[in-house]
Amino acid sequence: MQSVIKKVVLPAAGLGTRFLPATKASPKEMLPIVDKPLIQYAVEEAISAGIDEFVIITGKNKRTIEDHFDSAYRLEEKLKSSGKQKLLEEINKLNDVHFAYIRQKSALGLGHAIYCAKPFVGKEPFAVILSDDIIDPQYPLLAEMINIHKKTKATVIALQEVPKEEVNRYGIIKGIKKGDIYKITDLVEKPKPQLAPSNLAIIGRYILTPSIFDALEIQKPGAGGEIQLTDALRDLLNKEEIFGVIIKGQRYDAGDKLGFIKATIDFALKNPELSEGVSQYIKEKAKEL
Ligand code: UTP
Repeated sequence: MQSVIKKVVLPAAGLGTRFLPATKASPKEMLPIVDKPLIQYAVEEAISAGIDEFVIITGKNKRTIEDHFDSAYRLEEKLKSSGKQKLLEEINKLNDVHFAYIRQKSALGLGHAIYCAKPFVGKEPFAVILSDDIIDPQYPLLAEMINIHKKTKATVIALQEVPKEEVNRYGIIKGIKKGDIYKITDLVEKPKPQLAPSNLAIIGRYILTPSIFDALEIQKPGAGGEIQLTDALRDLLNKEEIFGVIIKGQRYDAGDKLGFIKATIDFALKNPELSEGVSQYIKEKAKEL
């Protein structure tokens, strides 16, 4: 069933410097957790939430993302003739999904990447998923956020408590708790721990109203010299309400090496073909530590 949010923007034009040299010529978003690239987890998550229009913001060296979501006729024929039905279904399952691609010519920041989607989004609210934040596929975070948007008609962001010493890696909010959700009163990108208004970090899921484009249009470079979405959200607070929801399921920061390895281990342990072998290996390794 189609949701009230029909479109999702998937920014994938960052430089991925934390994964160099792997990301020198290929996109971070194509790194696989077990056997599926990060960006495919994001696309499947959006489909589960009833979203059916996709725009991927790409940049240099991102061609493989387009190839990945294209049909692979020769490979399909080969799998068909060798009777590999399960693999065939697996590579075919997104064939009916249509993707639009917009190029961000220079990696000027997440805010700028989202601004590039303006012609595709138009004047309706939309979702944003950052593929390097992996949310446990069992937990319907996006659907929960869409429900809050339905009631409030406002921007909704996902939040997670992080250790105080890590607040300088995130956008951090100040807010008033109302039941399960926070009414945001301020946001700051990558604050120094002593200046952070809380330890509630913004993580990579957003439902944005189209007014964000007006705020993004006038943004100057902020933290790290990049055009920051958090700064635009802060400006938006002068005009509109913003709500935050604390995520209840597991989240992995797969844009960071340790988070990526944790996601790989957990997803492998949940994979019926791998769980036994992997858990046995981990137990053997643990004895050596
Ligand atoms: P990150 O902050 O993780 O940056 O971007 P990055 O460049 O991907 O990785 P590092 O920090 O250098 O290792 C968060 C998301 O925003 C996208 C990225 O592709 C990622 O999905 N992004 C970031 C853009 O699309 N364009 C940008 O200019 C910056």
